Amino acid sequence: MKAIRDEVLALKISPLYEYRAANGYFPVIGEGSHEASIMFIGEAPGKNEAQTARPFCGASGKILDELLATIGLARASVYITNIVKDRPPENRDPLPAEIMLYSPFLDRQIDIIRPKVIATLGRFAMKYILDKYGAIENSNSISSLHGTLIKALAPHGEVVVLPLYHPAATIYNQSLKETLKKDFKELKKFI
Ligand code: URA
Repeated sequence: MKAIRDEVLALKISPLYEYRAANGYFPVIGEGSHEASIMFIGEAPGKNEAQTARPFCGASGKILDELLATIGLARASVYITNIVKDRPPENRDPLPAEIMLYSPFLDRQIDIIRPKVIATLGRFAMKYILDKYGAIENSNSISSLHGTLIKALAPHGEVVVLPLYHPAATIYNQSLKETLKKDFKELKKFI
């Protein structure tokens, strides 16, 4: 993980590098237990995250913490990261070129953690993981796949992928929050 951090820190070819440097931001590598059986993968850091180098520590993180609490899952017992490790300007969606550049770091993190369950937060992480593992469901949208346990083959072995809505999507949509709470219950089987 330290090697990954050092490489991302020095990633001057990234289109997000200048923006990071100009704002005094940090890359956000990930946080949590390296022995975790559950790994959460989000999209990209927001402002709070880029200022502190911690994933999901702003508004989305507060929601994620609430969701973890509903199933009694300690944040320190899971591993939390993102596909893209630097903040995109104005929290815009990550670009395909950014996903392509940063995803090998995510792949290496998955190889290190060897999770049994990968819970994707939002459509970008879902699409990346399902495409990567050749899961047949990869052409489906998050509205049809959220909350379903999908068996897939990762380089380290069998994993279950659980697509989840992004916590930020629930900020203005209370019904989505209820959906996310319900979907989170699927994780209880793996605690
Ligand atoms: N949104 C994400 O996708 N990741 C974070 O770390 C914070 C907000």
